[in-house]
Amino acid sequence: MSVFNVELKKVVDDSYEIEVGHELEQKLIDDIKAGLVGNIKKFAVVTDSNVKPLYADKIFGMLKDNGYKCDLIVFPAGETSKTRETKEFIEDTMLEKGYRRDCCIIAVGGGVVTDIAGFVAGTYGRGVPFINYATTLLAAADASVGGKTAVDTPLATNLIGLFNQPEKVYIDISTWRTLPQRQLSSGLAETIKHGCIADRKFFDYISENMDRIFAVDDEVCEHIAHENCKVKYQVVMKDELESGLREILNLGHTVGRAIETVSGYKLLHGEAVSIGLVAEVKLAEKLGYCTAEDVKLVAEILEKAKLPVAIPDYIDREALVKKLYTDKKVRDGKLRFVLQKGIGDIMEFDGGQYALPVSEDTAREIIMSI
Ligand code: GLY
Repeated sequence: MSVFNVELKKVVDDSYEIEVGHELEQKLIDDIKAGLVGNIKKFAVVTDSNVKPLYADKIFGMLKDNGYKCDLIVFPAGETSKTRETKEFIEDTMLEKGYRRDCCIIAVGGGVVTDIAGFVAGTYGRGVPFINYATTLLAAADASVGGKTAVDTPLATNLIGLFNQPEKVYIDISTWRTLPQRQLSSGLAETIKHGCIADRKFFDYISENMDRIFAVDDEVCEHIAHENCKVKYQVVMKDELESGLREILNLGHTVGRAIETVSGYKLLHGEAVSIGLVAEVKLAEKLGYCTAEDVKLVAEILEKAKLPVAIPDYIDREALVKKLYTDKKVRDGKLRFVLQKGIGDIMEFDGGQYALPVSEDTAREIIMSI
């Protein structure tokens, strides 16, 4: 018998830039020409049916005009497209069109597009580079930054995926002007989440400037884009692979992701997270980490953002309690929750843990109360 030691110690530099601005299409092309992805000349532009005519066609045309080989790969808009089947469709299209490893994927769209395109990039030919061009507030606030990529399964959201960092993220604030109000509100849920976990001043700023956010006022939107990135990347830089601290970005998501699935995706991701934030601040109140006033403020800001704050009647609450167990924070079969410490801070528990085991009965009591 022989035993070999395969030494594979690694030093990896996955650093990348996030550029926040307006109408960044030309900047993207200039960066590619300047070597953002080395000598790559072949680009798969992945987008959805809503974003194609608004922004992806333009980027595709600019790439072609600059002599790059490229294809536009479009799938139907909506969370129900975030599946293994859509991933397979993108991969098969790229295979048919002769893409090998010398290519780059450009995701142009919201969270569904950046999540799925990043996942394809991580496995296509065992990995090709990708760039995110975020066209929604939700993608800007959360999905396009941090390297979480995934698809949903019938059991629950985001169960199959990988951590895969992009080459660069472009956050084009001008694109928020074409977002329907429901989509803008959905992105606001992740934005409010950042205020809840990390920054009381930011929480108050969002609340005080809600009308200007809905009017897509440049100054206010630039500020919220910057603050979102700051909260998110500061956490990701410390714990990229979610071994501890990154769990705090899951505030509102234990209940939220479960509601999203049980609703059959009638609720947008941010709408489900909004209800999850209410449930989880109520749980924090029950456990003594938040006051009744904190609960009131969280519900008020979410309502101001035109988000739901109660579980819709069509949701089967017992099914919802069962669905909580599909959460990736579950350990040894026990539910675990991230908990606010007032507004703008988060509880840290013994051993550097950021999620606390909570009994099913306690979770059920909260679910039944909202
Ligand atoms: N969406 C939560 C995270 O990126 O960790």
